[in-house]
Amino acid sequence: MLLEMKNVSKSFSGIQVLHGINLEVKKGEVHVLLGENGAGKSTIIKILTGAYTKDTGVVKWENKVLDVEKPKDAIDAGIATIYQELNLIPQLSVMENIFLGHEEKVRGKYSLLDRNNMRKKAEELLSRLGQNIDPDEIVGNLGVGQQQLVEIAKALSLNAKLLILDEPTSSLSGKEAEQLLSTIENLRNQGMTFIYISHRLEEIKRIGDRITVLRDGTKIQTVSAKNTSVDEMVTLMVGRVLENKFPKKQFKKGKEGLRVENLKLTSDSPAVNFSAYQGEILGISGLVGAGRTELMRGIFGVDPVISGDVYIFGEKKNIDNPRKAIQEGLAFITEDRKEEGLFLDQSIYFNETIAKLNFVKKNGLISVKSQRNIANKYTQDLKIRPSNIELMAKNLSGGNQQKVVIAKWLFTGARVFIFDEPTRGIDVGAKVEVYNLINSLVEQGSIVIIISSELPEILGMCDRILVMNEGKITGDLMRDEANQENIMKAAIGG
Ligand SMILES: Nc1ncnc2c1ncn2[C@@H]1O[C@H](COP(=O)(O)OP(=O)(O)OP(=O)(O)O)[C@@H](O)[C@H]1O
Ligand SMILES: [Mg+2]
Repeated sequence: MLLEMKNVSKSFSGIQVLHGINLEVKKGEVHVLLGENGAGKSTIIKILTGAYTKDTGVVKWENKVLDVEKPKDAIDAGIATIYQELNLIPQLSVMENIFLGHEEKVRGKYSLLDRNNMRKKAEELLSRLGQNIDPDEIVGNLGVGQQQLVEIAKALSLNAKLLILDEPTSSLSGKEAEQLLSTIENLRNQGMTFIYISHRLEEIKRIGDRITVLRDGTKIQTVSAKNTSVDEMVTLMVGRVLENKFPKKQFKKGKEGLRVENLKLTSDSPAVNFSAYQGEILGISGLVGAGRTELMRGIFGVDPVISGDVYIFGEKKNIDNPRKAIQEGLAFITEDRKEEGLFLDQSIYFNETIAKLNFVKKNGLISVKSQRNIANKYTQDLKIRPSNIELMAKNLSGGNQQKVVIAKWLFTGARVFIFDEPTRGIDVGAKVEVYNLINSLVEQGSIVIIISSELPEILGMCDRILVMNEGKITGDLMRDEANQENIMKAAIGG
């Protein structure tokens, strides 16, 4: 046993979020923490790494009690965490990042950096990961996936015995995720131990050895990944059988609510034309980097466009900044809710009302009372948990953060909703809730566009699917003719 947690509990301002957790991680296994949004997975990790202190319980590391009071205690013991927000310095090289803070020195009185030695060691570490990343490459030039691998190399250089990854693949492309998973498998075969958190159940099935399931801060069970099907995982997680992962509803096609004509983002990018109608969910598929987000940013006025016209319910609109987009009834649920969707250090009520402060003004001043009233209503309607609207957005779990973002846009009275990766990092149960919210938007006559890199989501929820490749629309498929093959074919250029 490498790590044991016994009877670990934790409360935040009187609300208990972990109830007597027991967790046993064996040397050389990939131990998965599985649970709905808010189940307490990240809180367990933060206790292990010294970001939070536990209220009760014991942590044993290599059969001895380990008191983690600050992050350094965990690092010294050999516990390394790869955070989603990477901690590398983009201007420095791969090698400099790996050895930052524990540089190798040349012996002698000047204590010069031993760059040759560091480079050699960096190469060794990277090749242990099965990577041929150049140690002299500037980190900022690497993709997110490779940066993550550099973080792992850094952890190895610090002699980590346990690597903790909290949703590492949620913002990676399919290929990058694949690379990370095989790196983990490699290292596990060399004896490394992992704690792994993900909402992607197929991934867990593939690399997990054992799975500890949490529900509402309580440990439900530890099971073997091999002997547990994906459906069984879902049932353990949500505590009931989830009938339908994609609650698709059909509505009658209505008016054209959004028309984009000859939109060009740059002088040499292709002109884009498409329309979205009431009664349908329009999916936009494509590989990561196909230009889907950029197109929407152009329409929403975040980035300037060269030319093109946008019509909303038949009227031509000149939207050259997000403020105008909001006035014209557009809503843009951005893919990165932490960076672009929320004010993390502000309350739920602040976030839910921020996009339309005019609606909460009294005599020219913002009325906090009406902000709170409105937020209470949305928080109840959308079943945001916890329902305390004074909580800061950063203290909500991913799924609940997403609901706050949606509430913010509902409050603006938008008519055209653009969802960019709406269920990224969201558990299966909460996904269904988001889909139901989307259904009700369509039912009320709103225009709904979903950008998604998850093919099952596109195929499960959309009525019509546009596929993009290098900024161009390379496919336009109806629900009943779309399948994995023809979408992928269009995604790689047709
Ligand atoms: N600093 C904090 N203050 C108040 N509540 C908190 C704080 N940190 C976490 N919580 C609450 O603790 C609970 C568990 O959160 P945690 O982030 O561990 O969930 P999670 O399982 O990691 O969810 P997700 O899958 O969405 O990442 C949630 O209800 C969350 O709102
Ligand atoms: Mg979490």
